[in-house]
Amino acid sequence: MLTLDIQSQQAPHPSEETKPMLSMKTIDLVKSTIPLLESAGVAITEHFYERLFRLNPELKNIFNMSNQHSGRQQFALFSAIAAYAKNIENPAVLATAIERIAQKHTSFQVQPEHYAVVGHHLIETLRELAPDAFTPDIEAAWTEAYGYLASIFIGREHEIYQTAAQKPGGWCGPRLFTVLQKKIESEYVTSFVLAPSDGGAISAYMPGQYLAVRVKPAGADYFEIRQYSLSDKFNGENYRISVKRETDPVMGTVSNYLHNTINQGDEIAVLPPAGDFFLQDTGTPNVLISAGVGLTPMMSMLEAIVATENHEPVFFLHACENPQQHSFATRIENLQEQNPKIKSFTWYNNSDVLPGMSYRGLMEIANIAAQLPLSSGNFYLCGPTGFMKFVKDQLLAIGVKPERIHYEVFGPHSAL
Ligand SMILES: Cc1cc2nc3c(=O)[nH]c(=O)nc-3n(C[C@H](O)[C@H](O)[C@H](O)COP(=O)(O)OP(=O)(O)OC[C@H]3O[C@@H](n4cnc5c(N)ncnc54)[C@H](O)[C@@H]3O)c2cc1C
Ligand code: HEM
Repeated sequence: MLTLDIQSQQAPHPSEETKPMLSMKTIDLVKSTIPLLESAGVAITEHFYERLFRLNPELKNIFNMSNQHSGRQQFALFSAIAAYAKNIENPAVLATAIERIAQKHTSFQVQPEHYAVVGHHLIETLRELAPDAFTPDIEAAWTEAYGYLASIFIGREHEIYQTAAQKPGGWCGPRLFTVLQKKIESEYVTSFVLAPSDGGAISAYMPGQYLAVRVKPAGADYFEIRQYSLSDKFNGENYRISVKRETDPVMGTVSNYLHNTINQGDEIAVLPPAGDFFLQDTGTPNVLISAGVGLTPMMSMLEAIVATENHEPVFFLHACENPQQHSFATRIENLQEQNPKIKSFTWYNNSDVLPGMSYRGLMEIANIAAQLPLSSGNFYLCGPTGFMKFVKDQLLAIGVKPERIHYEVFGPHSAL
């Protein structure tokens, strides 16, 4: 097993502008392997995961094995490794990605000791795939470079775990929550209101953040961890998540378990709120754009904004298949009726009827662009990545600055 001297390295905070602690020789050697990494592509991470789960099957309790079928997790890890090799002289440029990954890692309960296991399989993967190119020098360089990156993650994840545990109502690791209410929101989406079974306090979160549930459906060999965005503003007593039943191409493990098996009064284990996608500023107009179940973080943001006195205008743009699949439609309509600063627009992909302020077909922002705060607003996107790319391209074309566009991916991250 590879020995990583991770703990002894002084890791910088990822946002710090810092000179790398790696030698020039290491940097040059790692960079010299970039063409090799790029030509091998995701074959590296496929080989890596096959090795990891064969030799350390206990890690199936942490990873979402369904994401392995789609290849999205392999691609996310490969992209991260390639980006690291390219930016090894200054890992501070990767700060945003490192923060996002560290937040995600903590919601999967990744621990410092896991880094040596993962590092070992990465090194052995490189050796097995490119035995000739993987000289002892290259091996030493990658071992050092991986250890350095791992130390950055371990340091940041330690901070996140500590903060989550130490804040009022906070905790660390799985905590049992009882379902107070189970409510159907639309054809496929059901909400679960969760209160801690120990009767204690719960920690606050930023609107847009998610929590994770850790369950073991009957017959499953391993625990399953899934993230769900909080779908309401923080109320100090309980959390609400809203879960879409996934049916295509096969029944999703956890969403169907929650829909079919978990009822009012049942308990599930919950990991603390996390995530780097949240409402930045209530002092600007906000444009909340979603498709399908991607509206959950937007509901949290909308409810938080409208609870703020003298808030700026908020625009709620939502796309879904038809009115039967439109979650929270009545709530949004009521809020809009009560509050002239809320403007809601809906696109139904496939509907004969068009209630209220709704359009048929795909979300064409041009139809309403004149009403949007293109230069002063912050724009939040959540939904399938194809949808978010489609919308982001339109926003850029009508002059929205890229730094005002924020987005969340409901799965392994991918750039738009
Ligand atoms: C930050 C974040 C926030 C999220 N917020 C929400 C939210 O608010 N609401 C919500 O509903 N979801 C949310 N999700 C998604 C959620 O975490 C789960 O991914 C989702 O519920 C599906 O989990 P599952 O166990 O039901 O499906 P999984 O079993 O994980 O399957 C996922 C997909 O893969 C397919 N699949 C599974 N096995 C195979 C196979 N062998 N071959 C081919 N395809 C297969 C399934 O059909 C399904 O479409 C969020 C995800 C993230 C990362
Ligand atoms: C330096 C080493 C590592 C790198 C570069 C890395 C990179 C990544 C990336 C890019 C993602 C996707 C993030 C996203 O969706 O936003 C991810 C997710 C994840 N990582 Fe890591 N990771 C590392 C170490 C580890 C370790 C040690 C573990 C624990 C065994 C781990 C477990 C996970 C899990 C469970 C996920 C979520 C997977 C999913 O959504 O299916 N990672 N990691």
